[in-house]
Amino acid sequence: MRLSAQSLWTVLLHLSVLVPQAHAIDVDATSPDSLKSAASDATYGAFMWYHGNETGQIPGAFPSKWWEGSALFAAALNYWHTTGDTTYNDEVSVGLQWQGGSKGDYMPSNYSSYLGNDDQMFWGLAAMSAAELKFPDRSSGYSWLSLAQGVFNTQKARWDTSSCGGGLRWQIFVYQAGYTMKNAVSNGGFFQLAARLARYTGSAEYLTWAEKAWDWSVSSPLVNNQTWNVADSTQCADNCANAGNVQWTYNYGIYLMGAAYMYNYTSDQKWLDATNGLLGTMFKTFFPHDNILEDITCEPREICNNNEILFKGLTSQWLSYTAILVPQTADQIWPKLQASGTAAGASCTGNGNNTCGVRWYQSKWDGWTGMEEEISASQVFSANLLKYATGTVGPVTAKTGGDSKSNPNAGEEGTSTSPHYSTITGGDKAGASILTIGFVCGWVGIMVFMLLGG
Ligand SMILES: *[C@@H]1O[C@H](CO)[C@@H](O)[C@H](O)[C@H]1NC(C)=O
Ligand SMILES: *[C@@H]1O[C@H](CO)[C@@H](O)[C@H](O)[C@H]1NC(C)=O
Ligand SMILES: *[C@@H]1O[C@H](CO)[C@@H](O)[C@H](O)[C@H]1NC(C)=O
Ligand SMILES: *[C@@H]1O[C@H](CO)[C@@H](O)[C@H](O)[C@H]1NC(C)=O
Ligand SMILES: *[C@@H]1O[C@H](CO)[C@@H](O)[C@H](O)[C@H]1NC(C)=O
Repeated sequence: MRLSAQSLWTVLLHLSVLVPQAHAIDVDATSPDSLKSAASDATYGAFMWYHGNETGQIPGAFPSKWWEGSALFAAALNYWHTTGDTTYNDEVSVGLQWQGGSKGDYMPSNYSSYLGNDDQMFWGLAAMSAAELKFPDRSSGYSWLSLAQGVFNTQKARWDTSSCGGGLRWQIFVYQAGYTMKNAVSNGGFFQLAARLARYTGSAEYLTWAEKAWDWSVSSPLVNNQTWNVADSTQCADNCANAGNVQWTYNYGIYLMGAAYMYNYTSDQKWLDATNGLLGTMFKTFFPHDNILEDITCEPREICNNNEILFKGLTSQWLSYTAILVPQTADQIWPKLQASGTAAGASCTGNGNNTCGVRWYQSKWDGWTGMEEEISASQVFSANLLKYATGTVGPVTAKTGGDSKSNPNAGEEGTSTSPHYSTITGGDKAGASILTIGFVCGWVGIMVFMLLGG
């Protein structure tokens, strides 16, 4: 172990927390030092599950839950941005690039046959954050911006007008169960990515696509621009006549963040209305206990799966960046994040080693242990820290110091709508379907099953 001043500081913080028998991380969400210490513990806890930097392992790979690598790295980027602690930067830099695959579009051939648009998109958003937070490009290989552009280009080519007048399907290939559906997080993610690329590069094409993805979303049952309800998913078979209305924080958060970027970039009232509208519904729906963020669909019944445990962390981050990008919203957002951060800290008393739980609103450890719990806690701590960060706090653009290299044609070699399907053998297909079933069950599929089953 290298003992830099930073890690010595971290060790001392660990000791001070651990000596009197694993107390709660007593987070004072108005104290940057307290938040930094909590974020350090939770990020350390999350990286206990990461082995991609060890001999014989693959950087950034989580084979049975590929997209979660992007959640870990996104949390680590925010941790570094808000604390200045570079402990995990090498792992993030190597892994975030490695999983870009040979075409630089997060369709790595080991996994691409069963990826959904949402899985790929989350990696694209993580790369976009790297560009916007000025995480240094690697000296060779793909730049962070070009990786985000690669995801945008491959997804743009999948825009599907064969049903529902447009939209992205959830899954990419016809042999996947979710191919028959269009869902909020895939379309909201594409919208957000396009909005962020528009703001970063100033290129009109991204702006056009952000508008198009939004307009389609509000014309579908996914986003209601009167009530500001965001539904989970809708079926191609009946031309998106109905929607499964299971409520998840991240479906709102992903559109919210896109709208906030659009307002910041265009100053168009339409986007301020969308930002305020979505925030209003989120506040009414997801904070039933004392301003503490809760995924109400799974937490009360203790049935959150690993994907779902990550939703609040992502949403916390999107809320914090909304407060920065649309300063009019800040006074409403910070108190909610502070209460959530304090409660999350109180949940980090598990296993005698500061393991964080799932149900922050209980303000104690609820018996759950996992990388996902640590990632979400890390995210809500660094979301709070964003308020106190100094220097360039908000995401930069190419005009305000962003220097990640642009490649508007990134990823386009992989653009055909069924690049792998036509070439794989029967045996591969069977294998892919089995994996897909795993993915379906573990991901939006769970929401569908929950919806249908009760
Ligand atoms: C805490 O303990 C749990 C259960 O033994 C373990 O899985 C986890 O990796 C530990 N975390 C840390 C940060 O030591
Ligand atoms: C992998 O990264 C973790 C977290 O930074 C670090 O503690 C560990 O020493 C690294 N392992 C190797 C083999 O580099
Ligand atoms: C794909 O799998 C091979 C063999 O295990 C490995 O060497 C390579 O690094 C993997 N690529 C990615 C992007 O995970
Ligand atoms: C709401 O969405 C509909 C499309 O369904 C659109 O015609 C209308 O202009 C939108 N209203 C606002 C205020 O954006
Ligand atoms: C855009 O975001 C920056 C922070 O990155 C903020 O300082 C600025 O006020 C925002 N602009 C608008 C129009 O809200």
